[in-house]
Amino acid sequence: MKNISVFFFLLVAAFAGNFNQDFDITWGDGRSKILNNGKLLTLSLDKTSGSGFKSKGQYLFGKIDMQLKLVPGNSAGTVTAYYLSSLGSTHDEIDFEFLGNLSGDPYILHTNVFTQGKGSREQQFYLWFDPTKDFHTYSILWNPQSIIFSVDGSPIRQFKNLESKGVPYPKSQPMWIFSSLWDAEDWATRGGLVKTDWSQAPFTASYTNFNADQACKISSGSSSNSCSKKSSGNSWLSESLDSTGQERIKWVQKNYMIYNYCTDNKRFPQGFPPECTIA
Ligand SMILES: *[C@@H]1O[C@H](CO)[C@@H](O)[C@H](O)[C@H]1NC(C)=O
Repeated sequence: MKNISVFFFLLVAAFAGNFNQDFDITWGDGRSKILNNGKLLTLSLDKTSGSGFKSKGQYLFGKIDMQLKLVPGNSAGTVTAYYLSSLGSTHDEIDFEFLGNLSGDPYILHTNVFTQGKGSREQQFYLWFDPTKDFHTYSILWNPQSIIFSVDGSPIRQFKNLESKGVPYPKSQPMWIFSSLWDAEDWATRGGLVKTDWSQAPFTASYTNFNADQACKISSGSSSNSCSKKSSGNSWLSESLDSTGQERIKWVQKNYMIYNYCTDNKRFPQGFPPECTIA
C-alpha cells in the first residue's frame, strides 16, 4: 500500500509542473506566494503594488497549459496578465489578459499577438463560465505553422504563419512565460468610469497545474534547446485545428467574441492588416 502511494505520488509529481522548479517570483515583495510544495501559486494586488512571476526557462515553440482562478467578487480595475514574451524592442509576444469587472458582470478575456515588436492585433472575448469560481485551463499551442489560444480545450483564436504573404511570424526568438496582477483602472474599466474598490483588497489570483511537457525549452544558463518528447512524441509541432477544432473556434467567435481588430473599420481606414484579409 505504502509503495503504491509513493509511486503514485511520483507519477503525479512528474506530470504536474512545480512552481518552485519552473518559475521565479519577480516582483511584488511578498504579494506572490508559492504554496503546497510548489503546486499552487498566488499573486496578489493591494493599493501599494501588484505582483508577478516569470519562467526560469525560455521556450521556442510549445504546448503550454496553465490553470488560473481569477480574482473573485468586485475585481473591476484589476488585470491578470498571462503571456509569453521574448522581451526587447523587436519582441514577439502572445497575450492572455483578464480584465476584471464589478461583481456579477463578466470578465473580458483580451488577447493579442506581437511579432517583431508590433502588436495591435487585439481580440476580446467573454467566457462561457465564471472564471473566478474554479480553475480553468488556458493554453497556447505555438508551433511553426500557427499559434492557437484555447480555453478548457476549446480553441478561441488562431494566428497563422503567413510569412509567405509578408506577415512576420514568431519563430526564432525564445520566449519566457510571465504573469502579473496589477491595477489598470484607467484602461480596463470602460475608460476609467469604474474605479477599483480598494476596500476589497488584497485581490488574489491563483495558478496551478502548469504543463509544458510538450515544448522546446531553453534552460537558463545553457544554450541547448531540448524538445521534450513526453507522451505523444513531437506531434504537437505539426498540430493544427482539425474539423472539430474549426467548428469550435467558429462557435466561440460567433457567440463570445466582443472585439476583433480585423473588423474594426474605424481603426484601419487605409485597409486592414494583411492577416485579416488573407483567407
Ligand atoms: C463589465 O461588464 C459590463 C456590463 O456587462 C460590460 O459592458 C463590460 O464589457 C465588462 N468588462 C469590462 C472590463 O468592463
